[in-house]
Amino acid sequence: MCNQKPELNQKPDKNAPIGVFDSGVGGLTVAREIMRQMPEERIVYFGDTARVPYGSKSQDTIIRYSRQIIRFLMTKHVKAIVIACNTASAYALATVEKEFDVPIIGVIRAGARTAVQVTRNGKIGVIATEGTIGSGIYTQEIKKLRPDIEVTGKPCPLFVPLVEEGLLHDSVTDEIASRYLSSLKSRFVDTLVLGCTHYPLIRSTLGRLMGNDVTLVNPAYETAIELRDLLQKYGLSCDEENTGGEKYQFFVSDQTEKFTAFATSILPNDVKETRKVDIEKY
Ligand code: DGL
Repeated sequence: MCNQKPELNQKPDKNAPIGVFDSGVGGLTVAREIMRQMPEERIVYFGDTARVPYGSKSQDTIIRYSRQIIRFLMTKHVKAIVIACNTASAYALATVEKEFDVPIIGVIRAGARTAVQVTRNGKIGVIATEGTIGSGIYTQEIKKLRPDIEVTGKPCPLFVPLVEEGLLHDSVTDEIASRYLSSLKSRFVDTLVLGCTHYPLIRSTLGRLMGNDVTLVNPAYETAIELRDLLQKYGLSCDEENTGGEKYQFFVSDQTEKFTAFATSILPNDVKETRKVDIEKY
């Protein structure tokens, strides 16, 4: 765990970029939050668009993919890495954080902490991929903080393709969401963790169906706060205006144009270029 490893063998340059990765476009919701909270920081984003989805793959595969991506990000001399994918955080964080000489955080601890802070009735729902729910990690992290909390997990495998297809405000998404959410509503959860990077993009649908009394938790927000604290702890916060070079760089393993269009639609500024990487080489 990063908290137990305050010294790095080689201290990175504090003005180096932060590496952020996801199985595809979903992690842009985390990158967007980092850009909003830390506008001075540079980011190198990698989306594994050739191998998405991660949510239905085995732990061994996700660890192998995560190692490859971290090796690629290290070639960009990143000073810290954010695993902006719940499935990779669930399956790979505990392994890779011990293997690489760079601070690495995931999104799950931040999401669990926020949910525990906001619940009033002690009933928390978690929606995520099959992998994340199957790993039981949200339940473990929440119960570490408050063992009395009742956690109900619900895998929602169709949400990722719906978001990828751009059906953010569509009757099909409404219909599927109301089926998925009915079991959580019947447990009277008052807090719902959006435990997959794609889900904040259908937040308005989820919020409407759950009702005003249910607080939606987007782990991206707390993850950016955790990242800021981590950079401070390691003395790695950027201390100069980044004038040279590209502030935000985007890499994917496939479909550069589709990624560029999607990223431009959700980030505050246009994405001018996305580069393709042969990630199997790393
Ligand atoms: N990014 C993944 C996550 O947050 C969702 C998409 C996928 O299944 O790869 O779990």
